[in-house]
Amino acid sequence: DRNIKIAPSILAANFANFGAECEAIEAQGADWVHVDVMDGHFVPNITFGPATCAAIRKHIKGVMDVHLMIAPVDPYIDAFAQAGADVITAHVEAGPHIHRTLQAIRATGAKAGVALNPGTPADAVAELLDLTDLICVMTVNPGFGGQKFIDMSNKIRALRAMIGDRPVHIEIDGGVDVNTAPLVAQSGADVLVAGSAVFRGGSVSAPEGYGENIRNI
Ligand code: DX5
Ligand code: ZN
Repeated sequence: DRNIKIAPSILAANFANFGAECEAIEAQGADWVHVDVMDGHFVPNITFGPATCAAIRKHIKGVMDVHLMIAPVDPYIDAFAQAGADVITAHVEAGPHIHRTLQAIRATGAKAGVALNPGTPADAVAELLDLTDLICVMTVNPGFGGQKFIDMSNKIRALRAMIGDRPVHIEIDGGVDVNTAPLVAQSGADVLVAGSAVFRGGSVSAPEGYGENIRNI
């Protein structure tokens, strides 16, 4: 009854060819494009910012799902909304004012997402359920692709119960592949992010490789 969306993460894509990579994964069945923004402060890695998001927006027909692994978040919300983000997700751990951050994201017209690191309990979003459109459950500690999956099944089930019949997505992010996808889908997730499982072994010159990886998940 829940249709599962696949959101390949371009963190695992060819950084010299983002436009072609986004077109290739969409042509091969990606539902959303997951865009990992890292600032080298909230996470120990740096990727790219609003300018890159604006550039790749032109190559994405569907949902551009921007995952902000940055702190502070508020000063940059407008820039990512201007860049064309459809979903803007902030980490609950990024600062003390997540409630205001989600309000600010929604005020731009974008969907508001809140992300939980593995160590953060489901209850951290108890007061946010009417302010958010997506809860991103990290199944790795953020910062890198290709890490080992951390089982968060109990948290996912708890969140699905808390959400009730609200229109809130549960997105799983980190270590999702053919083996872990069924587990998280059964627990109540409906958006699956996958970086290495989609891009590894695929190639923009042979995009069907991406298609096979996406379909397998
Ligand atoms: C990690 C990112 C994830 C990551 C997923 O900080 O938020 O989106 O790119 O990559 P895989 O699927 O390879 O774990
Ligand atoms: Zn991510």
